[in-house]
Amino acid sequence: MAEHFPVLAVTGAASGIGAATARLAATANYRVAMLDLTAPANDALLRRNNTVFAECDVTSRESLRSALALIEETWGQGPDAVVHCAGIYQTSATEELDLELFARVQHINTTGTFLTAGVLGRSMLERGAGSLVLLSSIAFALGDEAEPGAAYAASKGAVVSMGRQLAAEWGPRGVRTNVVAPGVIDTPMTTIVDNAQAYGDLLATHPMRRLGTAEEVARVCLFLAGPGASFVNGAVIPVDGGQCIV
Ligand SMILES: NC(=O)c1ccc[n+]([C@@H]2O[C@H](COP(=O)([O-])OP(=O)(O)OC[C@H]3O[C@@H](n4cnc5c(N)ncnc54)[C@H](O)[C@@H]3O)[C@@H](O)[C@H]2O)c1
Repeated sequence: MAEHFPVLAVTGAASGIGAATARLAATANYRVAMLDLTAPANDALLRRNNTVFAECDVTSRESLRSALALIEETWGQGPDAVVHCAGIYQTSATEELDLELFARVQHINTTGTFLTAGVLGRSMLERGAGSLVLLSSIAFALGDEAEPGAAYAASKGAVVSMGRQLAAEWGPRGVRTNVVAPGVIDTPMTTIVDNAQAYGDLLATHPMRRLGTAEEVARVCLFLAGPGASFVNGAVIPVDGGQCIV
């Protein structure tokens, strides 16, 4: 009889941490649903028989429901675990009052998390088992003089609050929720590398003198998603090379 590996849904899977999580999971034989706005071009990952791409906008419940339907159609079940990486990083000085930017960041990062948890989490709740991993950032707790990120920091604080609340609400129903808070990671999202002064300052004071890699974050996400973390619920795990301790 064919062995059935867990089904993992990864949002934001076309780039950065989401792509690294999907790649690691696919190589570990998970059945992986990659959700994103558009599919990564020519990605060998999508040619594997244990991956599927679902075009999905995490700010739309209909879009998330279609992605869930595709997962169920492909593998005959909803996800056993969800790693929610979709998000944006945009900055603007608060005193400029760019309300549009503020609303966009909250919409994608906060509402997107609420809807992803609501649609995919519900599917796990219905089966009485599952694991939800949300991506916050050390920005939820650590101010940054180099970039005006109040909107982003607020959205990532919301992710932490949501994750801890869901851990309490859903833990008794078999679904664990944990939050990963990455430091500065080398992905297309990271803008500090374009500012030589700020980048130099960061590297000079960072305990590990380097940025993290997407795979280093992905490994923690996958650990939290899987059975190795069976008694971890409501945790907020920094993956920042110690940036928060200095
Ligand atoms: N890179 C870092 O330094 C860093 C640090 C802390 C936290 N994070 C968080 O980690 C997560 C992943 O970041 P990354 O660095 O991999 O970024 P990334 O920009 O490389 O990837 C983000 C992905 O999310 C997708 N996305 C954006 N809006 C979407 C939507 N509405 N629906 C579906 N998909 C959407 C994008 O298409 C993209 O593929 C984000 O939540 C980010 O805030 C990143």
